Amino acid sequence: MNIKDWEQVWSSNFFLTVNKIYGMFFLKNFFNLLKYMKISSKTKIIELGCGSGEILLKLIRKYNFKATLVDNYKPILDKTISNFNENKIKAEFILKDIFKLNFKKKYDIVLSVGLIEHFKGKKREEAFKIHKNLTKRGGYLVIYTPSSSFSYWVGRKINEKLGTWMVSETPFTKKELLRMCKANNLISIKISKTLFGSWFSLLAKRL
Ligand SMILES: C[S@@+](CC[C@H](N)C(=O)[O-])C[C@H]1O[C@@H](n2cnc3c(N)ncnc32)[C@H](O)[C@@H]1O
Repeated sequence: MNIKDWEQVWSSNFFLTVNKIYGMFFLKNFFNLLKYMKISSKTKIIELGCGSGEILLKLIRKYNFKATLVDNYKPILDKTISNFNENKIKAEFILKDIFKLNFKKKYDIVLSVGLIEHFKGKKREEAFKIHKNLTKRGGYLVIYTPSSSFSYWVGRKINEKLGTWMVSETPFTKKELLRMCKANNLISIKISKTLFGSWFSLLAKRL
């Protein structure tokens, strides 16, 4: 998907509502994953393809994380910055394509929600590797991405019929996620399902 496609997605009220509801499921799942991670108020977290940044806003408020949010679509990043300012939540914002990030800075947690499924082939492998390259040794990757499951395909077919399906994406299988972890020398700590089985949550650790 290119920037023009994201412009259409972010201007849809339907997508904004669905994104908010999905965010509640992912946040609840993230709280469960925290028991597998060592965190403190010094924890540095980066979200790639942050969009509205709603999940991170709530995580910073609760855990006081040092957060960085990256997106390459300026209007949504500007909106997110205003929302953080209104809520008096501090974070660093980077307007950039994730494929152009440098990896000098490393993070304790690298998060993405609804990002990697939008890439295919080499770019898909590269997008996953970028998460790893930004993670400190001993740090964690947390990725939320659609699962090629019955519930995903039913939901997608309904939306396609109703004309409310707006994105181009290829859902993951567990096998593909595990293969990517192995190819990047990551320990997969937990792969669970959320949103009625239609999405994966992956927690992996960089050795
Ligand atoms: C489905 S949205 C993510 C929603 C977000 N997690 C939220 O809760 O609002 C995917 C986001 O990734 C961003 N994105 C897509 N490709 C990107 C890239 N190559 N570099 C940076 N951001 C990208 C899009 O602009 C979009 O805002």
